[in-house]
Amino acid sequence: MDATTISQYIEEDAEYVCPTSPPPKQMVVEEAHGCITKMADGREYLDLIAGISVNSVGATNPEVAAAIKAQVDKMMHSMVFGVYVVPVQVELAKLLSEITGPNLQHTFFCNSGTEAIEGALKLARKHTGRKKLITMERGFHGRTFGSLSVTWREVYREPYEPLLPMVEFIPFSDIGAAERAIDDETAGVIIEPIQSEGGVRVPDDDYLPRLRQLCTERGALLIFDEVQTGFGRTGKWFCGEHWGVWPDVLALGKAIGGGLPMGAFMSSQEIMSTFYKPPLSHITTFGGNAVICAASKAAISFMVRENLPDKAVERGEQLMDGLRDLQKRFPVVKDVRGKGLLIGLELEDAATTEQFVHDAQDRGVLMGWSMYAEATVRLAPPLVISPEEVDRGLSVLKEALAAVSQ
Ligand SMILES: Cc1ncc(COP(=O)(O)O)c(C=O)c1O
Repeated sequence: MDATTISQYIEEDAEYVCPTSPPPKQMVVEEAHGCITKMADGREYLDLIAGISVNSVGATNPEVAAAIKAQVDKMMHSMVFGVYVVPVQVELAKLLSEITGPNLQHTFFCNSGTEAIEGALKLARKHTGRKKLITMERGFHGRTFGSLSVTWREVYREPYEPLLPMVEFIPFSDIGAAERAIDDETAGVIIEPIQSEGGVRVPDDDYLPRLRQLCTERGALLIFDEVQTGFGRTGKWFCGEHWGVWPDVLALGKAIGGGLPMGAFMSSQEIMSTFYKPPLSHITTFGGNAVICAASKAAISFMVRENLPDKAVERGEQLMDGLRDLQKRFPVVKDVRGKGLLIGLELEDAATTEQFVHDAQDRGVLMGWSMYAEATVRLAPPLVISPEEVDRGLSVLKEALAAVSQ
């Protein structure tokens, strides 16, 4: 694309597309394959953020693309509730039941992560008949009213109040606080097993098992938001497995669609059946759309065949070791933490972090901030990243750290 056309797109984007972050935008994206994003000016970038943990099977995965094309030729959309069975939806739900816990055999399909959270919260209230919801400080669950109500940062909640009542925030990984908060009025406890936007925060090893036990004892549903941590990202199929814990409700999004928009929440048939009474208690027109299910099924089949959770462990160790070496050489690096290929690199302050991300971008590497921890850079590359690509990324990060350390 020539320079004039590129400038025109940037100008028209500012004029016609509602912004999600402060202008100006700088780059026009043209193509993305695997771990490489190509901009319209011809420059290629190594992608270490995967569209925020979405492109786990690599951008524009050929098997996912072929499945989409085949399904498009057969049927794009039909009634997804009522009397119609959509075969590809059944196949996908069955596949999901094979990679999740024995109590999570029923799936409700929707269109995004935030919708999965909405459904999970409604399910907890309706199934238990209780009202109170417990959530975590520094947690992030989405931007619609229900998910925003259980999302921590005041600056994003306050302008939209009143939000859901009877929501209590407690400190993450503090079992004493959970013991005090969860009672016989608690419908559900929602938590990311590793907080992503909160700066890649990993709980203490005994926290989630004890939280599981507390919820069971007190009759509250435990909801895991694995929108970001699911599908092998942290080195297990689902992040709670690091501590041997399955929730009552598992909320999913991002990587589930193989690059297309999808969300889902899973639970037992017994708990989900609360939505049958009265009928249509929770429905959505496009949830379980045939094309999206075909994409998701192809993506998850690819993850299974290529054993992506194990790849996340191997490449995650390589990346984490390399970052820890950099930490020894550059005092601006304060911490390196995470699991698998969800890694937080904490620098000394927000300004240095911003400069670092821009510098790395100029040198050809894409990364992201954490929304609630401005001094932490998030690395969440496609799980198909090769050892050579990890090395290439590390050498660029080294140059960028040297630049911001001067
Ligand atoms: C942990 C978590 N939950 C929920 C969401 C909301 O997902 P979506 O943006 O698809 O609505 C996100 C998005 O970043 C997330 O990281």
